[in-house]
Formats: sequence, structure tokens, C-alpha cells
Amino acid sequence: MSQSNTMWGGRFAGGPAEIMQRINVSIGFDKRLYAEDIAGSKAHCAMLVRQGILPPEDGDLILEGLDRVQAEIEAGGFPFRDAHEDIHMNVEARLGELIGPAAGRLHTARSRNDQVATDFRLWCRNAIDRLDRQMAGLQAALLDQAERHVATVMPGFTHLQTAQPVTFGHHLMAYVEMIGRDRGRLADCRRRLNECPLGAAALAGTSFPIDRAATAAALGFDRPMRNSLDAVSARDFALELLAAIAINGAHLSRLAEEIVLWCSDGFRFIKLSDAFTTGSSIMPQKRNPDAAELVRAKVGRLAGAFTGLLVVMKGLPLAYSKDMQEDKEPVFEAVDTAELSLAAMTGMVLDMRPDPAAMREAAGRGFSTATDLADWLVRAVGLPFREAHHATGRIVKLAEERGVALHELPLAAMQEVDPRIDERVFDVLDVDSSVRSRKSFGGTAPENVAAAVAAAREALK
Ligand code: ARG
Repeated sequence: MSQSNTMWGGRFAGGPAEIMQRINVSIGFDKRLYAEDIAGSKAHCAMLVRQGILPPEDGDLILEGLDRVQAEIEAGGFPFRDAHEDIHMNVEARLGELIGPAAGRLHTARSRNDQVATDFRLWCRNAIDRLDRQMAGLQAALLDQAERHVATVMPGFTHLQTAQPVTFGHHLMAYVEMIGRDRGRLADCRRRLNECPLGAAALAGTSFPIDRAATAAALGFDRPMRNSLDAVSARDFALELLAAIAINGAHLSRLAEEIVLWCSDGFRFIKLSDAFTTGSSIMPQKRNPDAAELVRAKVGRLAGAFTGLLVVMKGLPLAYSKDMQEDKEPVFEAVDTAELSLAAMTGMVLDMRPDPAAMREAAGRGFSTATDLADWLVRAVGLPFREAHHATGRIVKLAEERGVALHELPLAAMQEVDPRIDERVFDVLDVDSSVRSRKSFGGTAPENVAAAVAAAREALK
């Protein structure tokens, strides 16, 4: 039988079965917490010294030793060992090798339960800050394109059927709004997660005269968590982060799908350069938007990560259980995936070259200004909207029978439907007039879009 664990093996005669070690070990993935783990240990150590719980000489040794451990890890020379299970014990064991028995005093008034909860909150907080910067970068890219295309007319769709003309800038600004709310969700999550579990110890607090407010402040938390049981066993901060990431992933997936559509032969609204497309090994003419397709797909992993951790957490009695070690991989994978998707999407948004002529041509198809005609009948002829809708439907039918667009239909044909229609109607039937007229708050008129771009730029500063 192998040797018992030197950290907790006092009452153990033998070591773990090989399979026990394999299912228990987490160092393979939780080594990503090393910087947060060391920062937490340093804050804890300094507090122990200040409270007179740890002799200052030992405190100095520990702080220097922790710096050496961090340098070793960052230089790539750190001996990560499965026998030490996780990042917390790997760091502490190495500290012992470097500074001797004083290392054993670091774990006073602390447990791995509050330690891992603290580390993980710090890691998620850093991830939130990185994701927020990336999302702001994506917004800036969308704003660049939107600004160039405040007046570029394209078809707006409902049911993916041509509905009414909109501007490309307005369409892109819809995504700026979505990403803005995604950032809001991250900010909410950050605010709630920014409380410190350190000092909750295993689950009940500690008999040592620790200063939890001091460690919380040293680590940039707003305050210590109020309840020790909750402090070690709460993972809703990770769930919130995963939910926020998954929702952002759904937004990116929708934009990705639109990019796929827009570069297809049926649309030809945009072109992606060689930088964001791939060729086919058999069909030489092909230019495939693989990056967009992959961003469209990645939300599957993100939703899986959220669902996975939610299921891990449901039904767990208080306080800590080892189940919670399963919290890290989904979060790491989701954050990695989100970072990759955001970078790819930002690249594609900057790369895409819209074709305004193709968009305008498509915008005129499908009788897209029929609503403008109905609105005109209300305004100029005084029809109730329902009657105007009916009359417009009959005019659309006439145009369809003759195979022409609404603005190509002779006035006389329209007058067959309602003799009160006069030539002023042609002012509203082209796509530019249509978008220009939609000046209601939040509408697609180019002047609105220009103002929205300016406001969003200001907010992004
Ligand atoms: N590796 C563990 C985790 O990630 C650390 C906490 C272990 N605590 C314990 N009592 N076994 O959850």
C-alpha cells in the first residue's frame, strides 16, 4: 500500500487506492488557480501576523517562500504532483520543501474549503474583467461598422421573410445593445460574487482571533461573507457567471448565423476575407465561413457547462462536499470558449465587407414598403389602418400579378383600388424614404442610428 497523505494522513495507516487517487486528484485542472491561491495565502499570512497568531519571522519566511513558489510555477519548473491532490496542497507542500516547518503554520485558522472558495471567486472575478474588456472590444468593432452604414439600406426580416427596409447600421446596433446587457449581467454577477469566504474555515468559523475584514480588503473584496456555512458551500457565483456567458454565447450565435446567411449566395450582403474563411478540399470555388459556424455552435458547450454545474449543485446538503470540486472544469472551459468566440466574432465583424448595392436591391424586393403605403393611406387619405391594410394588400396583389415592385406600379392601377390615391404616394414607396421616415424613438432612420452610435461610443469611453 502506498504512503498516507502527509497533509491529512495522521489517522491513516495506508495510502489511497490507485483509483481513489485518480478520481480525487484535481491538480491537472485546478493548477489554473495558482496565482489566486498564492494571493489568498499571502493575505491570510499577513493577517495572522498582524493578529499575533503567527510569529513575524515565520510570516516573513512564508511570504518569501510563496513568492518563490509563484516564480517557480511561472518559470515552468514547478513539480506539480498528483500525490498532493490539488493546487492548495501542492503549493503548501512545495513551500515546506523551500522554507521548512514554518510552512506548516500557514494553514492556521483556515481550511481548504474556505481557501478554494476564495481562490475560485478571485479567478472568476478576473475572468469577468477579461470578458468585459473583450465584450467592449466587440461593441467597438460593431460601432465602427454601424457608423459607416447608418444609411445603408437592407431588408429587415420577420420569420426570415422580407418585412420592412432597415439600415445595416441599425441592425448592427441591435447587437451593441445585446452585448451591453451581457456586460450588465457580468457586472451584476461581479458585484454579488465580490464577498470573501476566507476565514469561514472548514464550515463553522474559527476560534483564532482572525480579522476577516482585513483579508477581504487585501484581496479586493467588498466585505467578508456573513455566514461561514454559506461561504464555503455557495457556488451560485459560478452559476451566474456561466449563465451570463451562455446568454452572451446565444447572442454571438445569432450574429454568427446572420453572418453565415449574409455571405451565402442567396444573400451576398457581405464578404469575409481570406482571413476568416476556409476553402473546400474538393470544390475549388468555395469560401466557407467556418469561424462563424463555430461561434454559432459553441453555445452548446456553454449551455452544457451551465446545466452541468447546476445539476452538480442541486440537492447538495450544507456545507462543503467534494462534489464541488466539479465546479472548476465547466467554468474554465466556458470562459476559454467565450474568450475564443468573442475574439473570433470581433475579428469577423471588423473583417466583413458589406455590399450596399446587394443589400439595397434585396431591400426593395418582397414589397417591403407595403407598410409605408398603408401608413400613407391613413395619413393622406384618412383611412382607418385596418382598411388601409386591406387596400394595400389589393395593391400588392396587382403588383405581384404584373411582376413589378410597388414603386413601379402605375398610379392608375393603384387608383383602381382607391381613386383618392395621388402621385404623392410615390414619395413613400422607395426604400430610402421608408427608412428615413422611421424616426420614432428606437426606429431605423439614419439620423436615429447616427445618434445611437454617438451615444454608444460615449458610453464605451
Ligand atoms: N480540491 C478541492 C476542491 O476543489 C479543495 C477543497 C477540498 N476540501 C476538502 N475538504 N476535501 O473542492
